[in-house]
Amino acid sequence: MPHPARYDPLDPATLAHPYPVLAALRAAEPVSWHESMHCWLLTGYADCVAVLRDHELFARDRRRLGAEVPQPSLSVQSLDPPDQAEVRSLFMNALNAQDLPGIQGRAEQRLAHWLDGLDARPRFDVMAEIAVPLSLAVISDLLGVEEPDHSSFAQVSDAVMRSMDGGLDPSLVEPGRLARQQLSELVASWFRTSGRPGLLTHVRDHAAGQRDTGLDLFIRNTARVMFQGGYSTMVAAIGNVVHTLLTRPDVLERMRDPRLLQTGVDELVRFDGPVQGTSRIATRACELGGRKIDAGQTVTVLLAAANHDPVQFTEPGRLLLDRSPNRHLGFGWGTHSCIGTTAAQMALRALVRGLLAHPAPLRAAGAAVRRRTATMRAFDVLPATFGPGGTAGRR
Ligand code: HEM
Repeated sequence: MPHPARYDPLDPATLAHPYPVLAALRAAEPVSWHESMHCWLLTGYADCVAVLRDHELFARDRRRLGAEVPQPSLSVQSLDPPDQAEVRSLFMNALNAQDLPGIQGRAEQRLAHWLDGLDARPRFDVMAEIAVPLSLAVISDLLGVEEPDHSSFAQVSDAVMRSMDGGLDPSLVEPGRLARQQLSELVASWFRTSGRPGLLTHVRDHAAGQRDTGLDLFIRNTARVMFQGGYSTMVAAIGNVVHTLLTRPDVLERMRDPRLLQTGVDELVRFDGPVQGTSRIATRACELGGRKIDAGQTVTVLLAAANHDPVQFTEPGRLLLDRSPNRHLGFGWGTHSCIGTTAAQMALRALVRGLLAHPAPLRAAGAAVRRRTATMRAFDVLPATFGPGGTAGRR
């Protein structure tokens, strides 16, 4: 196992099996300074929660430390209270007003149709044929907008997602900025024209007084984050869940028990969720896990490590479908926790129900290709089949 200072999230062996590496990091030093990443790495559950719940001490908004943040990046994700709280409650209220069971029903119907169409194919890519269309269908239905063209949207969204690793590879920053600009134009057109019922119409109607105010900009940027961020995280989550199910076929069978559907889906997110980490900046000098943190230093909260901390989770390496309580950090925690949690859980339940309802079992059909990204854990390609020629899943 590498010394904490040599931890490289993009190392192929670490990408394939991150959890033993994160466990070794935690055992060596739960709060460790990483010289080349220039940040503190947090791997213990309690330290991670302490940072996420204290937005006064640990800022998301870099402007509080004197940094400049480009206007298109100012959204619920990059602001802190009080502005963040106002935008967040607008979107939370809009989400709570949506008919999630209706969206789930429509998602299940469309999924059943796609799965039937895949029956005759000797082999297909779960990412392109299931994860992308299901995520776009759910997000578009939730927001109440026309579904964009799948492949061109996936490309633009990938550029934004990859730019989340801009700290590790600065060449990803500019393509991400351009993609964000393209998406902002798409979202602006939705705000001008969309009259469909859905989250965006609700937000627009309840934010009527904010036109030409700073808040108006934050709202439009947040709509973009909801669409693109929600979509790309869903795609990654679906891929990871299907991969877990392919490598452990008994898990899907056990989820036929309706009592295990909700807790089982949550456990799948804890076990191998898409968002591996997030960061905050210390607004003043403080102490964490016995280490002295200076004001202005970045603290990287390794959610994936916290989700496998044995102090919080008994047998963290086992998938316990009835785990309860399961206060994992797969959807974050506190001020910036995921706004889309209930929608995401609903979409994953639709996926599991769809796979269970399909007459033939889904099997792995070759080696999966991992995406070389650190913040988001995802697959580029995940081959599978409903035919007889499938293989046991490979890692
Ligand atoms: C399984 C799928 C998903 C997972 C695992 C996930 C995970 C997360 C995590 C870990 C955070 C917190 C990041 C931080 O603290 O810095 C977050 C924030 C967020 N998520 Fe999700 N997410 C998912 C799906 C979605 C969906 C479908 C939407 C939109 C419909 C969405 C919208 C958001 C937004 C807007 C934020 C920022 C909230 C804030 O900063 O106040 N997410 N998500």
